[in-house]
Amino acid sequence: MSSTDHPGRGVERLIQGQATQDGAGVKLTRVLTQDLQQRLDPFLMLDAFGSDDPDEYIAGFPNHPHRGFETITYMIAGRMRHRDSGGHEGLLQNGGVQWMTAGFGLTHSEMPEQEEGRMEGFQLWLNLPSNEKLCKPSYVDIQSEHIPEHTTDEGVLVRVIAGESREVKANIQRDATQPLYLDVHFSQDAIFEQRIPATHNAFVYVYRGELTVLAPQQQTPIALARMAILDNTQDRVFLQGCAGTRAIVIAGKPLNEPIVQYGPFVMNTREEIMQAVEDFRAGRMQ
Ligand code: FE2
Repeated sequence: MSSTDHPGRGVERLIQGQATQDGAGVKLTRVLTQDLQQRLDPFLMLDAFGSDDPDEYIAGFPNHPHRGFETITYMIAGRMRHRDSGGHEGLLQNGGVQWMTAGFGLTHSEMPEQEEGRMEGFQLWLNLPSNEKLCKPSYVDIQSEHIPEHTTDEGVLVRVIAGESREVKANIQRDATQPLYLDVHFSQDAIFEQRIPATHNAFVYVYRGELTVLAPQQQTPIALARMAILDNTQDRVFLQGCAGTRAIVIAGKPLNEPIVQYGPFVMNTREEIMQAVEDFRAGRMQ
């Protein structure tokens, strides 16, 4: 097939991400920034972190609150200890996921449990619909061996963190936002096809090698450490990679509700944000 034969979504925009620091000075790249929240609704943020230098991650993320959304941390390499005010504790390590629903609010810390070696991964923020923003906080640790996977005939390994790929379903499903979160590994030259409803907002971030998005009349290369926002023209995407290429593919159903963010709180109105600040100060997120 030539590229014109791939009836898939094209690339609307390529994003480089912004180098920043968060927590107690962890260096990271903010790939999905606040100005993209409407376009990529229901996703609010994507941070990529990756360093071999302990000075860039050792300080970790000491106690801080969240309200109104979910955080999904995917660890590619390294170990991070999570503790929260609900008494939950877990160790997040190589290939594992922590899915935290902040809901009404909690305070938590995410601290490296290693003093050397590589620390690499992603944190994605997924919004909650207005009627679930104040739900009871919860969290799930999914160790690497419990993340469903499949390998295509062309040798592409697909880890299904959320949603569904070729009838392989993730442990986590959400009705309101229907998130899809895949980690795709290419072992040779191959094309990977994934269904994504055209109404869902979607993006791809490449974290090893590079790949090409194949669409009618359009072949768009995505370089290492770049995010491609996919257009909403088709109900699938075709990704062409080669040996060693790895990328995350993320999509979700937009909520189409107002988004008001103040740091770690994301609500629908300014009044709700003021209430969040007040509840936090009064110790109600403990
Ligand atoms: Fe956090």
